[in-house]
Amino acid sequence: MQRLLVTGGAGFIGSNFVHHVVGSTDAHVTVLDKLTYAGNRASLADLPSDRVELVEGDIADAALVDELFADVDAVVHYAAESHNDNSLHDPSPFLHSNIIGTYTLLEAARRHDRRFHHISTDEVYGDLELDDSNRFTETTPYNPSSPYSATKAGSDLLVRAWVRSFGVRATISNCSNNYGPYQHVEKFIPRQITNILRGIRPKLYGAGRNVRDWIHAEDHSSAVLAILERGRIGETYLIGADGEKDNRTVVEMILTRMGLPADAYDHVTDRAGHDLRYAIDSTKLREELGWRPRYADFEAGLAATIDWYRDNEEWWAPAKDATESFYASKGQ
Ligand code: NAD
Ligand code: DAU
Repeated sequence: MQRLLVTGGAGFIGSNFVHHVVGSTDAHVTVLDKLTYAGNRASLADLPSDRVELVEGDIADAALVDELFADVDAVVHYAAESHNDNSLHDPSPFLHSNIIGTYTLLEAARRHDRRFHHISTDEVYGDLELDDSNRFTETTPYNPSSPYSATKAGSDLLVRAWVRSFGVRATISNCSNNYGPYQHVEKFIPRQITNILRGIRPKLYGAGRNVRDWIHAEDHSSAVLAILERGRIGETYLIGADGEKDNRTVVEMILTRMGLPADAYDHVTDRAGHDLRYAIDSTKLREELGWRPRYADFEAGLAATIDWYRDNEEWWAPAKDATESFYASKGQ
């Protein structure tokens, strides 16, 4: 696969994937990105222009998508509205990008017979009890909670239908919570790091007992490349790195690493419908494709992420004030 189209490649995980592809293959990458509030040209700025081209546009623009599909071998689809809190405020862009956008891409994949990989989330499975010994697997029934996760679930089902009904050569991956460089300051880990850098106390929703299964974005990227290259058509693969931590523990780790008392945070209004726990069983991916995470040590990956935000204030500062004003208006 010498020519890749990456949708949402100016966002957090998409830009990490583009860096990974440039560093580990000789493929040419075209990024299609609408550059919403979450997209940032600067996330791709250090990549060579003969390897990466950024096209600003909407995945729901059928004419543009058709033109771009004609020139590539495969498509990796990251573009989405991705933040649960925003979906509780205004679900409409989530329906547009996650449902109509994915439908538009699938129709182009069908017309051009292109290999298609769809990026999704563990949130489509709903949540688990804290003491549940089961983790999510590829056969866990869908049970999404928020407008965001419902639209991601809908997009997964569209992909499955296009495989079965039209023979589209697609795979799906559902990954757990990512952390690493280039993540928007609205998300949990970068919000707390940049709060501390700005002298603001970290904000924990509710009691902070909710558990997320953290994976470094670099490990997500290597898993996606393995699925794209060696995954079986029509299959779903769960991606996770056995990184379960509750939110309070993560905030305390960040505070300690940044030289502050572990309890120097505020409890704020909880998220409506807040999922309690996500946990991924990635046995299928590991056994079938031989994939392993490189960032097995969460504390080391978190320390590197803190350093990245400390060193790259010009990247995150433009979005910080507006993000905090939005949260303040919600009591968060
Ligand atoms: P992000 O919000 O950081 O980036 C999304 C990107 O998509 C942005 O660059 C945005 O400009 C672009 N975009 C949005 N709507 C578009 C449209 N209509 N047309 C073209 N571009 C559009 O999101 P992220 O955290 O990088 O997530 C990327 C993907 O990974 C999403 O599909 C998300 O559901 C999935 N995912 C995220 C996580 C996570 O922890 N962040 C975990 C599992 C799966
Ligand atoms: O599980 C994968 C999902 O992970 C992806 O599909 C989503 O795109 C991605 O945003 C993420 O969803 P979460 O809702 O889990 O991530 P978020 O960073 O918003 O929040 C992580 C946890 O931290 C969650 O329990 C809510 C809590 N939280 C969040 C913020 C922003 C806080 O306690 N305080 C905060 O300020």
